[in-house]
Amino acid sequence: MQMYDLIMKKKRGLALSEEEIHYLVSGYTNGEIKDYQMSAFLMAVCFQGMNEQETFALTMNMRDSGRILDLSGISGVKVDKHSTGGVGDKTTFVLLAVIASLGVPVAKMSGRGLGHTGGTIDKFDCFEGFSTELTTEEFTEKVNRHYIAVAGQSGELAPADKKMYALRDVTGTVDEISLIASSIMSKKLAAGCDAIVLDVTYGQGAFMKTKEDAEKLAALMVKIGKSAGKKMSAVITSMCEPLGYSVGNALEVIEAIEALKGNAPKDLMEVVFALGEQMLLLAGRAKERNEARKLMEEAIASGAALEKLKELVVSQGGNPACIDVPELFPTAPHQTDILSEKEGYVTDLDALAVGLASMHLGGGRAAKEDGIDLSVGVVLRKKCGDYVKKGDVLAQVHSRESHPQEVIRSIKEAYTIRTENIKKEPVIYRIICG
Ligand code: URA
Repeated sequence: MQMYDLIMKKKRGLALSEEEIHYLVSGYTNGEIKDYQMSAFLMAVCFQGMNEQETFALTMNMRDSGRILDLSGISGVKVDKHSTGGVGDKTTFVLLAVIASLGVPVAKMSGRGLGHTGGTIDKFDCFEGFSTELTTEEFTEKVNRHYIAVAGQSGELAPADKKMYALRDVTGTVDEISLIASSIMSKKLAAGCDAIVLDVTYGQGAFMKTKEDAEKLAALMVKIGKSAGKKMSAVITSMCEPLGYSVGNALEVIEAIEALKGNAPKDLMEVVFALGEQMLLLAGRAKERNEARKLMEEAIASGAALEKLKELVVSQGGNPACIDVPELFPTAPHQTDILSEKEGYVTDLDALAVGLASMHLGGGRAAKEDGIDLSVGVVLRKKCGDYVKKGDVLAQVHSRESHPQEVIRSIKEAYTIRTENIKKEPVIYRIICG
């Protein structure tokens, strides 16, 4: 078999066989197939796409390129949750505590944030001493004992995807649905859970810009997961504006802790509950959505979910004191209010612009190796649908540098204020049950 022939075949819009995809993935992983050939192939996929059989074969070959976690030592149905990325998205942080407090094992492998979207591991780094470097034995023991553990995604999982994603990132070949679906699902399948709930976001701040594309991606990932023998659900959610009010690691953690204390923004809880319902249904902990919702509301109202977060932080070596005293979290030296220069309704709040602003403050990584500042970010005071007067505070920037002009300008530009209000998009667009 020759890589040249496979590139030509895809260029002409023909489907590759299972054997050809195996050759492609194994050859690229072991270095026999070069970056320039793989780049040409990936670009051909961007123009011609892949059918469902090809996408499934690509996923399984990438999954099998490394280690597959064996979680059989953990009793119960292990449910994982994945988001395709958003701005201000702290749902995982809230959900982990709520679901584990209901006795459903949550074995969470997670990554660090890249670009304008945040990562769950970065949020746990806000707790001094918290370690996400766990051996499989430690991970298993902690989930069995506490129903929850959080570990950094091991480089041993799906190494073919790691290499291919790095190449896609620099060759303009990220935004193709079958490549995204196979990339995400190869890692999720290698992480070894029994059930997976996907949060597929759409809008300015998301990979998928339209509801229709998000729906296609969600349906494809659900199908791949089911064909691989997993229980699957997907919730399609809007990322037209940031979720909740805080963007930036420590700021988001503080908002998530407030949510566990029962003081959450409505949009955040809508997404938390929609995803949590699916997690509890797939785990067999609830029989229908209303029952699942009630269980979660009780877990928050009784303080059980907050206690579970404290238990998790202590079990992984972190200092839980900041859960009760948020001032102990990393805090930026400067806070600057951004004032409205107009009167009217906020009709748009560009999530991507807010995410990029937080990244430019040092709260996100432009490249994987970059460090981040956990303290910086943006706290929104007004969101879509709100009425503002001239001089009202639109948002507050938390920064290391005093008065960061560029960021202040881009946050101002992220707001559209008009005299007429518009109908707000619902946060939950659709739920796809497997
Ligand atoms: N996240 C991934 O892991 N892979 C993609 O291709 C896109 C988003």
